[in-house]
Amino acid sequence: MIYNITLIPGDGIGPEVMKAARDVINAAGVKINWEIVDAGEGVIEEYGTPLPDHVIDSIKRNKIAIKGPVTTPVGKGFRSVNVGLRQALNLYANVRPVKTYKGIPSRYDDVDLIIVRENTEDLYAGIEHNVGDSAAESIKIITKKASDRIVEFAFDLAKKQGRKKVTAVHKANIMKLSDGLFLKCAREVAESNKDIEFSDMIVDAMSMRLVQSPEKYDVLVMPNLYGDILSDMAAGLVGGLGVVPGANIGYDMAVFEAVHGSAPDIAGQNIANPTAAILTGVMMLKHLGEFEAAERIDKALSKVLEEGKILTFDLGGNAKTTEFTGEIIKKL
Ligand code: NAI
Repeated sequence: MIYNITLIPGDGIGPEVMKAARDVINAAGVKINWEIVDAGEGVIEEYGTPLPDHVIDSIKRNKIAIKGPVTTPVGKGFRSVNVGLRQALNLYANVRPVKTYKGIPSRYDDVDLIIVRENTEDLYAGIEHNVGDSAAESIKIITKKASDRIVEFAFDLAKKQGRKKVTAVHKANIMKLSDGLFLKCAREVAESNKDIEFSDMIVDAMSMRLVQSPEKYDVLVMPNLYGDILSDMAAGLVGGLGVVPGANIGYDMAVFEAVHGSAPDIAGQNIANPTAAILTGVMMLKHLGEFEAAERIDKALSKVLEEGKILTFDLGGNAKTTEFTGEIIKKL
């Protein structure tokens, strides 16, 4: 099988880390026609926008894309490329696996959880207004459709990945109507998925539990705002943004991207850590059903990290991006 996949190198360190991900995937033997299209700061002069139509068309055609970080131009009035893609492609689920790797400094040893964040509504629906001069209101939207969809997604993901438990995170004790509806939907969906253990937890308690004993959690599903906050917090549990992959998934399309930004401070020096980009590639392979190659890459990367001999500067080493990538390829 040969896959057609859109690859957006992005800005800053994007091209360097995306090349690393591509080289590792190619070396693992998965056959991919990479359709490379540019988006971000670098194309604004040519196209008058950071997200040209042909980039969206390419993803719509191929259904799968992997994307490097793009610099968000400050104060130039362009819509964020990430928000633009999410809306244009209806990418309703944000998925962030958070896992400890030996060799990556962190406070915990055995975290392996997935945060599933609803990507389209909640307080992020953008419905806000001023009330006179002295108050402002943001409306929290929770719908049955989006809640059912995201919780079903979480259960499907749990099953596909052989996971045992889904926890719905909410604040239904206070927001009885909005989060109450989310929780009701979650419980109903759980009823039809009895083979996976289900529980729910209030977001404040969840925050404490995640810091105390993150190893106890498996798949967590939650509305947009809690997902935004807890997913960054969870990244902090395993060594930070440089090592955490992510994906935005829709009905028949998916855009995979690491969590970190374009890191202009280290761009073009061949020193960026490609771990997050490579793990993002691993997520993409699992999505394609290429589990064996995904597993092999994950193992090779784990070995390089664990050996601790060839590491990029952020992990305490002095290897170049290309040396670190080459070492992973050697171990495939
Ligand atoms: P950033 O993640 O680019 O950098 C934060 C710090 O982490 C920097 O010191 C950077 O050198 C370091 N860092 C990040 N990734 C690294 C890696 N792979 N290896 C080694 N060190 C790494 O966040 P920042 O500085 O807030 O944002 C820079 C630009 O990226 C901004 O224009 C922002 O809007 C954009 N951005 C884009 C994202 C995307 O397209 N998905 C996500 C986050 C930020």
